[in-house]
Amino acid sequence: MRVSSGVAGLDSLVGGGLPAGRLYVLSGPPGSGKTTLSTQFLVNGVRQSEAGLFVSMHESRSDIVEDMSGYEFGFDRAIDTDRLTFVDVFSSEGKRLFRPPGKHRDASSLVNRLTGFIDSNGIERVVVDSTMLLNHFLSDAESNTVQFLTSLKRTDATVVLVSEMTDPSAYADEHYLAHGVVFLHNFLEDGGMQRGIQVLKMRGTAIDTDIHSLSFGDEGLRVGERRGRN
Ligand SMILES: Nc1ncnc2c1ncn2[C@@H]1O[C@H](COP(=O)(O)OP(=O)(O)O)[C@@H](O)[C@H]1O
Ligand SMILES: [Mg+2]
Repeated sequence: MRVSSGVAGLDSLVGGGLPAGRLYVLSGPPGSGKTTLSTQFLVNGVRQSEAGLFVSMHESRSDIVEDMSGYEFGFDRAIDTDRLTFVDVFSSEGKRLFRPPGKHRDASSLVNRLTGFIDSNGIERVVVDSTMLLNHFLSDAESNTVQFLTSLKRTDATVVLVSEMTDPSAYADEHYLAHGVVFLHNFLEDGGMQRGIQVLKMRGTAIDTDIHSLSFGDEGLRVGERRGRN
């Protein structure tokens, strides 16, 4: 089964959609469109009556609603339905749901709470934005991050994990562990900043790994023509 990304032109780069139930990493520098793409992915699910979960480590619900209010893809309407759950991990609700009490922040309790929530609520699409603050929640960050990712892979949900990344050659554990990796690029060309998108890997399907142009429009991000080969 395939899941639509919700971004015009992206599904055709991955053979018609993302293989369902897998873990995808979305990487790119600040401002490259990671949060926008993630919300489009969740809204697409809500339109098909799928339950979604947005776990935010950076922005509050009202920040994201405001940031997405300039687009017509309808994040504000989606978030008002009971299909889409937004959890800001720093809010009191977020703490109650996901952050284990006490000092010892091991991965298993955080992960068990998150996967328990996904399973018991029949969540089909999950976004975790982003990995940057995982170190803040997990002691012994490296092995716990691996445990966190491995558990997310085992849920039935299709998961998009946002990974902040400024150096495109600095791969992290999540790039190796994920079933698929999508990169967003910002680069200077013809004196201006250009945006691009590139599918680096996607297990189980043929992919177009060329960089394609990426632009913001009324409906959010859309993928355009091929920019060049790597
Ligand atoms: N309509 C638009 N046209 C062009 N750029 C936009 C538009 N709306 C937002 N942006 C830019 O998109 C960026 C925000 O993207 P975002 O998804 O938050 O990126 P990330 O999560 O990767 O940091 C900002 O730099 C913002 O200025
Ligand atoms: Mg972001």
